[in-house]
Amino acid sequence: RTLRIGLIPGDGIGREVIPAGRRILEALPSSLNLKFSFTDLDAGFETFQKTGNALPEKTVETLKQECDGALFGAVSSPTTKVQGYSSPIVALRKKLDLYANVRPVKSVGNGDKGGKVDLVIVRENTEDLYVKEEKTYDGPNGKIAEAIKRISERASFRIANMAGEIALRRQRVRKTGAESIHQKPLVTVTHKSNVLSQTDGLFRETARNALAQSQYNSIGVEEQIVDSMVYNLFRQPSAYDVIVAPNLYGDILSDGAAALVGSLGLVPSANVGDGFAIGEPCHGSAPDIQGQGIANPIATLRSVGLMLEFLAEEKAAAMIYKAVDGNLEEGKVLSPDMGGRARTEQVVEDVLKRL
Ligand code: NAI
Ligand code: MG
Repeated sequence: RTLRIGLIPGDGIGREVIPAGRRILEALPSSLNLKFSFTDLDAGFETFQKTGNALPEKTVETLKQECDGALFGAVSSPTTKVQGYSSPIVALRKKLDLYANVRPVKSVGNGDKGGKVDLVIVRENTEDLYVKEEKTYDGPNGKIAEAIKRISERASFRIANMAGEIALRRQRVRKTGAESIHQKPLVTVTHKSNVLSQTDGLFRETARNALAQSQYNSIGVEEQIVDSMVYNLFRQPSAYDVIVAPNLYGDILSDGAAALVGSLGLVPSANVGDGFAIGEPCHGSAPDIQGQGIANPIATLRSVGLMLEFLAEEKAAAMIYKAVDGNLEEGKVLSPDMGGRARTEQVVEDVLKRL
């Protein structure tokens, strides 16, 4: 099988870590019978400055017509509003209907400051407050701003199904002997339906119904109100396996959970739709270290694994995770954000040698 992968480095350290992603794909053993072809694609702030468009039509069309999956580095966003600029990854999620944002957070080796963590946040990616239908108007006592929070049964159902499938897959992987702190699959449905009884109420009820389907019989299902969820997540992260949440809560929980494992340079994500996945490290373009060759490539390497999982190449994904975990467990070849002295290249070499 040949997988066609679009490479979108973007800005800053995106250009230093995406080549690492390509290298690990090329280094996978031939016994997997897996080949890759690569297409370099533009997006980001520099692309915007050159062409007036942060996400060229060619990038979108090539992804749609000619790619099975993609890797996205990071893009810089101006801190003040720049006329005509909008985030390319947000636009890509819409254009390719990548309705789930999946973020595993796992502790390995010496990089961890908290307890054992091995969880995945499955965030709805298309609606909620992020439909961006906002308006401001003059009220009797000054300005008033409003935003629409939209929750649909369809989007809630498919994101809960995605969470169910991920919980089952994680269980499958554990059965192959992979080490884990979890015995039984568990999905935690996150909401605030005690206050927002209609919107979050619909999310909660729909997610519950989705997870009550017979194919998910083996999965434990619980629910938590988002604020106490934050408390519990930090008190006892090991209690969580798969967390499913509407867009805004999922966004906040994802970044919070990333803090449990030490460095942003470790945490991967994937934007997933039906039959397409984009792997994306969680960090940004890191202008403070760009060009120095010291960016941590681990988040990107793990994002490559995630992309492969969603392209049904679980075996290749598992090999990548194992190689990365090996590097972290040994803890000898670490980049500066992890307290080490290794350069990006050296970390990549160390991981490749463990493949
Ligand atoms: P950032 O994630 O770029 O950096 C935060 C801190 O973490 C910095 O000190 C950076 O050096 C460090 N860091 C991040 N990734 C690292 C890695 N792989 N290895 C070692 N150290 C790493 O977030 P920041 O500084 O808030 O934003 C910088 C730019 O990135 C902004 O323009 C922002 O808009 C953009 N950004 C883009 C994202 C995306 O493309 N998905 C996500 C977050 C920010
Ligand atoms: Mg975020």
